[in-house]
Amino acid sequence: MSNVLWAKPGMDIDADIQRFLAGDDVILDREFIRYDIRASAAHAEGLERIGILTADERVAIARELEELDADVAAGRFVLDDRFEDMHSAIEARLIERLGDVGKKIHTGRSRNDQVLVATRLWLKDRLSHAAALCHTAAGVALERAAREGELPLPGYTHLQRAMVSSAAMWWAGWAEAFIDDADRLRGTARWIDANPLGSAAGYGVNLALDRDHTTAALGFGRLQVAATYAQLSRGKFELAALEALGSALLDLRRLAWDLSLFASAEYTFVRLPAKYTTGSSLMPNKRNPDVIELMRGVYASVAAAKIEVEQLLSLPSGYHRDLQYSKGAIVHGFGRGLAALGLLPDLLRALEWQPERMRAAIESSMYATDLAVELSAGGMPFRDAYQQAADPKQWAERDPQGSLEARVSPGAAGDLRLSVLAARWSSLNR
Ligand code: ARG
Repeated sequence: MSNVLWAKPGMDIDADIQRFLAGDDVILDREFIRYDIRASAAHAEGLERIGILTADERVAIARELEELDADVAAGRFVLDDRFEDMHSAIEARLIERLGDVGKKIHTGRSRNDQVLVATRLWLKDRLSHAAALCHTAAGVALERAAREGELPLPGYTHLQRAMVSSAAMWWAGWAEAFIDDADRLRGTARWIDANPLGSAAGYGVNLALDRDHTTAALGFGRLQVAATYAQLSRGKFELAALEALGSALLDLRRLAWDLSLFASAEYTFVRLPAKYTTGSSLMPNKRNPDVIELMRGVYASVAAAKIEVEQLLSLPSGYHRDLQYSKGAIVHGFGRGLAALGLLPDLLRALEWQPERMRAAIESSMYATDLAVELSAGGMPFRDAYQQAADPKQWAERDPQGSLEARVSPGAAGDLRLSVLAARWSSLNR
């Protein structure tokens, strides 16, 4: 690190201590730097509007920021430990290219609000992306539910055969789950859609900064008003984002569990295309569902990230450097989470049912509940009907199709109400 922004004459700067302070910040800031560049451009516009920068100065800064952004995008500029962090790198670049004009960029701002604004912008993009992936996955599930209504599938509770279910019921469940997740991710994106830029170090500045302008210029839905709350919300909004992501990954974890069971020889209800499996280094016979297992495992990373952020949030008000560690948590959590969700829609499209095996796993005991309900619908008190239907002598082979068609309670196979789910799915597109 050649120079830190806050160096003053005569100040002793210890290399080991600097390394500890920076940690992996320059690596992590590679994720956020383009957002910091965008926010810097908006800040410069705000400064022009209150007469701190001339129009020419603002244009020169905007041009240099655009060039830096292009350099970052193309890999010509890579953030490394020549700099303390992305904020220093951006300012250094402006000063190197523009001299005194570059030195004006930091008027009325602090790295404290810079990191907040970059993180919020970064999270908004990732939450929207996660919502779109859940929405697409839900769309695939809905479409397959509509197409595969006829296909009986054993329904389990406690991993024991319970009642006849269907592929359509299975799909409808995942469709509604991922619609809920998309909705929650979208809602969280809206919740964090507030502009902290201009709160400076956490107490505002003695300039009438045009915060409404930077709010609009950066595409935020609203201004985060209280300068002190901007800092109080750090960690809190990252945690909310991880929770919304985690809800999708908890669903993915359970879906992956179903698939790893269904793909095993013991069930063989689905066939996974070979690209989702790997071989064994020793056992020549194996095809293992590793992709699904890693999808299942990702929740652990998100849970760890949530705990890390939550543990940081034991602080009095104001900025504290502890919160720097929240960046690693969201980068790792969202990195793995989005990678797993990214593979989900195609995986769902590619699943192939094995109808004979599914049919063969349906045994006569699985109609006992139908029988008990039938008897009680005919007037027998349910508890008596239950006793009668519990007797295996009463169990006869039935037609799974008949069982499914008769299951007319809303949301069950006989009345899936896919149109209600489809309407909600479509409304999330708007
Ligand atoms: N890397 C720092 C963080 O993430 C940036 C803010 C630094 N502010 C300060 N006052 N040291 O928190």
